[in-house]
Amino acid sequence: MPALLVSGAQWGDEGKGRATDLLGSKVDYVVKFNGGNNAGHTIVIGKEKYALHLLPSGILTPGVTPVIANGVVIDIEVLMHEIEALRSRGVDVSKLKVSANAHVITAYHRTLDRVTERFLGKRQIGTTGRGIGPTYADKINRVGIRIQDIFDENILRQKVEAALEFKNQVLVKIYNRRAIDPEDVIQELLGYRATLEPMVCDTALLLHEALEAGKTVLYEAGQATMLDIDHGTYPFVTSSNATTGGLITGSGIAPQHLTRVISVIKAYTTRVGAGPFPTELFDEHGDFLRKQGFEFGTTTGRPRRCGWYDAPVARYAARINGVTDFVLTKLDVLTGLKKIPICVAYDVNGVTHSEMPVNQSDFHHAKPVYKEFEGWQEDISGARTFEELPAAAQHYILELEKMSGARISAIGVGPEREQVVVRHSLTED
Ligand code: GDP
Ligand code: IMO
Ligand code: MG
Repeated sequence: MPALLVSGAQWGDEGKGRATDLLGSKVDYVVKFNGGNNAGHTIVIGKEKYALHLLPSGILTPGVTPVIANGVVIDIEVLMHEIEALRSRGVDVSKLKVSANAHVITAYHRTLDRVTERFLGKRQIGTTGRGIGPTYADKINRVGIRIQDIFDENILRQKVEAALEFKNQVLVKIYNRRAIDPEDVIQELLGYRATLEPMVCDTALLLHEALEAGKTVLYEAGQATMLDIDHGTYPFVTSSNATTGGLITGSGIAPQHLTRVISVIKAYTTRVGAGPFPTELFDEHGDFLRKQGFEFGTTTGRPRRCGWYDAPVARYAARINGVTDFVLTKLDVLTGLKKIPICVAYDVNGVTHSEMPVNQSDFHHAKPVYKEFEGWQEDISGARTFEELPAAAQHYILELEKMSGARISAIGVGPEREQVVVRHSLTED
């Protein structure tokens, strides 16, 4: 009963979608268990490029059953568009299952996300504006709307009216915005009933039975360790658990089922939105990484902040998640650099920290301590075995591996499906 997890080790956009796609042919179910359409995964198959937000990336593999589990927050309009867009490109989405317990992102969550950010001014998080934070806040406050509520008009009405009674006061009196008519929200949600109905089920039971029957289930995290609400750089984080713990609550899987914890990590680091980022580069090297790596957001199109590889972050991710295998992506982007620095520790006001400082202010003031490695000039995008990589690239990988707390089992040498070097199988022992 193999259950595999693919998650992000840094601040997102590590290439999780691509790594998931790599495993696609071996799996029966692909499951998204946290976040919502704040995620953006780009997958390149031949000449086709797909950008997915709410649907699990594994959906592109014929035969798999895609599942949106209870921990996800769902903007149903976005879900419908994404289903339609894939259908029109010939992708089979008919097997999609959606948890009855997942929470719903409504118009008022999106509005509140945007106005709260504006209100924060200089202290803003730089959210994706998709309503993620306000929807999770409602879930925790026990005033959220769940997918199952849409099928009980009375309950839906009560919940939406109760939520808006309070939120409209906030929107009008604090943010000087127009009130939202509960009827508009209710009618919109009721309108999705017929399309949603065949998809909605108890996904925890479905997946439990699949695992018991010996099926392979791949769980895909959105966002990443450093954006995790508990373990990330709070408050500059998303509002869900993107780490291994989030899988347990977000899907209802029992921990003993989990056989492999695969974490995706870039050969350098990027971040979108605000918050601390010790290895961030403001010079021509930052521009080089952004340009070579095409580091612009899949969801918002924002240029990503770029910096060198941060080994304490990798070790932190390895510990928090129990990583068994790293997938190192975008090694090809480093081609052409004479020297490649890796952050091995931080200097915080004259004190060396070899691990992530527990105090957030220390992390804000952390200056990277670098060790430099030789670069390589050869094009590596055609390499398919470790031995085909230039000696300097091999050395870089082996040094990263020593510092990062888990083995590096696969290496991305280009965005396309087959542009990968596999050192250890990600599915077999
Ligand atoms: P995700 O959110 O973790 O799924 O990652 P994104 O899709 O937002 O960003 C990763 C980007 O890197 C995508 O555009 C991928 O096509 C691209 N990518 C993934 N792996 C590689 C690689 O090994 N080399 C290169 N050059 N690009 C890659
Ligand atoms: P994937 O799955 C990168 C960032 C936002 C912002 C913070 C909070 O593609 O790796 P939110 O809208 O979630 O409340 O925003 O988190 N963020 C991401 N950054 N990749 C993502 O997803 C992200 N999802 C959220 O930029 O800083
Ligand atoms: Mg992304």
